[in-house]
Amino acid sequence: MAVAALTLILFSALICCSVTEKLHNGSPPNIIIMLMDDMGWGDLGVFGHPAKETPNLDAMAAQGMLLTNFYTANPLCSPSRAALLTGRLPVRNGFYTTNGHARNAYTPQEIVGGISKDEILLPAMLKKNGYVSKIVGKWHLGHRPAYLPLENGFDEWFGAPNCHFGPYNSSITPNIPVYNNSEMLGRYYEEFPINVKTGESNLTQIFLKEGLEFIHRQTKAQQPFFLYWAPDATHTPLYASRSFLGKSQRGRYGDAVMELDYSVGQILSSLQSLGIEKNTFVFFTSDNGAALTSRTNGGSNGPFLCGKETTFEGGMREPAIAWWPGNIKEGTVSQQLANVMDLFSTCLSLAGISAPDDRVLDGLDLTPVLLNLSHSLENRPIFYYRGNEMMAVRVGQFKAHYWTWTNSMEEFKQGVNFCAGQDVPGVTTHNQTEYTLQPIIFHLGRDPGEKFPLSVLTKEYLDALRSVSAVVEYHEKTLVPGVPQLNMCDQAVMNWAPAGCEKLGKCLDAPKSKPWKCSWPH
Ligand SMILES: *[C@@H]1O[C@H](CO)[C@@H](O)[C@H](O)[C@H]1NC(C)=O
Ligand SMILES: *[C@@H]1O[C@H](CO)[C@@H](O)[C@H](O)[C@H]1NC(C)=O
Ligand SMILES: *[C@@H]1O[C@H](CO)[C@@H](O)[C@H](O)[C@H]1NC(C)=O
Ligand SMILES: *[C@@H]1O[C@H](CO)[C@@H](O)[C@H](O)[C@H]1NC(C)=O
Ligand SMILES: *[C@@H]1O[C@H](CO)[C@@H](O)[C@H](O)[C@H]1NC(C)=O
Repeated sequence: MAVAALTLILFSALICCSVTEKLHNGSPPNIIIMLMDDMGWGDLGVFGHPAKETPNLDAMAAQGMLLTNFYTANPLCSPSRAALLTGRLPVRNGFYTTNGHARNAYTPQEIVGGISKDEILLPAMLKKNGYVSKIVGKWHLGHRPAYLPLENGFDEWFGAPNCHFGPYNSSITPNIPVYNNSEMLGRYYEEFPINVKTGESNLTQIFLKEGLEFIHRQTKAQQPFFLYWAPDATHTPLYASRSFLGKSQRGRYGDAVMELDYSVGQILSSLQSLGIEKNTFVFFTSDNGAALTSRTNGGSNGPFLCGKETTFEGGMREPAIAWWPGNIKEGTVSQQLANVMDLFSTCLSLAGISAPDDRVLDGLDLTPVLLNLSHSLENRPIFYYRGNEMMAVRVGQFKAHYWTWTNSMEEFKQGVNFCAGQDVPGVTTHNQTEYTLQPIIFHLGRDPGEKFPLSVLTKEYLDALRSVSAVVEYHEKTLVPGVPQLNMCDQAVMNWAPAGCEKLGKCLDAPKSKPWKCSWPH
């Protein structure tokens, strides 16, 4: 009893002092994070896409705040998602590789790695103030049972451990189970069909329905909720339901965007019709830039260079909209440098929960920016990582690239180019077997497309180098990397162990494809 009472007192002390407490008489807002898959900065009408086929997202921005300098933590799905949910750089939370730094959880072998038990995820933190959390859609933090969402703080789950990526070739059905909580309902391409030929799938509809059902149920129960809505229709192979197929000016990719946009509109309007919009914080963003390797099956990164897999702006600058009627002023635009890890800190602050103090967090609390309590936060850097490699860093308007990797030699030989059609000589193509000892520096304010490196002979370069170097030096000196969870070339990875599909008795053999090559020296 005494311990319980003491815990209660301590707990009350912990939740006393947030911004929201003062604003909302202690009722913590519901939280919805909408995370898209490979959607680019330039895909939204509000960011300038000429097709203007995102009326709901454009309206969301008009009713809320558009963030124009919002970043992911890594240009790939898994580490980006792990960063969002832990508030930590992948190099800290373990979602990185130390071998073949260009690679991560993308092959079927990813079944081996997953989120470390030592990490605390956002839903587990939110539980401290009574939140009920649901993930709908793509997880991507590991396939094995111990890595799945219900083991990591979520109360409910509808979706798959991975996206519907694949089939790699038409004779192989990717082994991707679909779960309703801990029950496996079927698999993508089978019980949850995706017609690769026509692009027809009802998955976005299903994800929408699951999200709306949860919102309604939690509202009725008067319990604060966290909905992590992570549909994957804009990841190839692209899909949309029949009523959206063929409707956009942008082919199947645009059809998928239109259906997602429609779904966002449905979610926001249901918050309004339930009368909870003033008590629900909604944030829309994407996990990494659009994949230029997909060419016409991929999205647009607007004015930015290259795309997914690279640490140019096209790989890591994300569309971002914050919406919270009555709290976030409508029609505002923020140029604050911000990133997905800030969502962790921000959500905790909104929920009136102290951030964990036993670990380094990489996010900042954005509430002062969102609520216009101050114009900007400290001049914080943005780090651009691939694997354990700090590729680039942004300080203010200056971005220094220490390594402008765009392909491994293997991929180069295979004709893979993550900057397809956008190569800038000396920037995206140079001798990649060497580090750039003198970083290439861009001024993103006047050169957002990263095409005109500052001359190393200018005072501007030297000044920028000085300020960036100080940040890098401190970062490298203080960084304690986590235990890497995604090393792809370890022997364990080769010993593929199917998980999750036991119930259907349809496990596939390990792909007999070649093991992932570690030809790259890092
Ligand atoms: C596709 O997979 C099947 C089964 O493993 C294999 O026999 C075939 O060669 C593969 N086709 C291609 C084009 O890779
Ligand atoms: C998912 O499971 C819950 C109970 O755990 C059940 O109420 C719901 O109907 C299930 N949904 C689907 C689509 O099977
Ligand atoms: C999607 O749902 C419609 C209507 O229920 C159905 O006719 C269609 O076959 C479904 N499509 C797929 C690919 O499952
Ligand atoms: C933000 O607050 C400042 C005063 O602190 C005010 O001048 C400004 O108009 C506010 N901006 C918006 C968009 O409300
Ligand atoms: C690239 O750099 C490496 C290491 O300095 C050198 O051995 C190699 O010859 C260079 N390649 C080209 C094409 O310049």
